[in-house]
Amino acid sequence: MSPRRERGDNAPGQSRTICITGGAKTVKDAASRGCSFGGIRLVEITPDNWRDIKVEVSCEQKGFVASYVLTLARAYVYRRSGGLVFALYSEESPVGLLMQRDWEDDEGLPVCIPDQFFIDRDYQGRGYGKKAMQTWLDNVRKTCRYKAIGLCYKEGDTVAENLYAGLGFIRRPQDDDGDELAMVLLL
Ligand SMILES: CC(C)(COP(=O)(O)OP(=O)(O)OC[C@H]1O[C@@H](n2cnc3c(N)ncnc32)[C@H](O)[C@@H]1OP(=O)(O)O)[C@@H](O)C(=O)NCCC(=O)NCCS
Repeated sequence: MSPRRERGDNAPGQSRTICITGGAKTVKDAASRGCSFGGIRLVEITPDNWRDIKVEVSCEQKGFVASYVLTLARAYVYRRSGGLVFALYSEESPVGLLMQRDWEDDEGLPVCIPDQFFIDRDYQGRGYGKKAMQTWLDNVRKTCRYKAIGLCYKEGDTVAENLYAGLGFIRRPQDDDGDELAMVLLL
């Protein structure tokens, strides 16, 4: 998703998203325990681990997502809208990144957005992206806080499009914004 697609912030004071992990009740629990699904763990980025994460996409993919550092900045900007960033670990190696945030649709229904999501260039094409997205979706479902997942991908990002379609996302052209193509998954 491009940083250009800015969906409205939630009301100030609205509680922030907690990505519950395996029954963990707080972000701290979730981060310390991580969550696993076929070898992928989602670990929240914290002051203790943020320097350890070194993940990036290929040069040709840089238009599809923000960089790691920009994603951290973005999550800060969206901190009152549930902005969270997770490193995606395979065993002890960070293999990717996912930022999420909250959004309310036109009817006021709570939607969770995977705002930035990528697998490091050296780990792509090995099933990590699919496993990571399945893990994250599982966590979001467990919170019972959202009615849907909404996302956008750049026109021409065929791999992302196939990945999301394979997980049940459907196109939602009425939410398209230029070359940002929208998809939704009802929960
Ligand atoms: C999109 C991305 C996260 C996918 O991660 P990945 O680990 O490479 O993908 P996987 O190996 O798990 O494959 C997942 C699905 O992607 C699709 N896919 C994978 N490689 C593909 C290729 N070369 N061509 C077309 N589709 C492909 C398939 O549908 C695949 O599912 P399947 O194996 O059940 O058929 C990764 O390519 C990436 O980080 N791209 C750059 C950043 C980006 O575009 N992020 C998405 C922003 S919305």
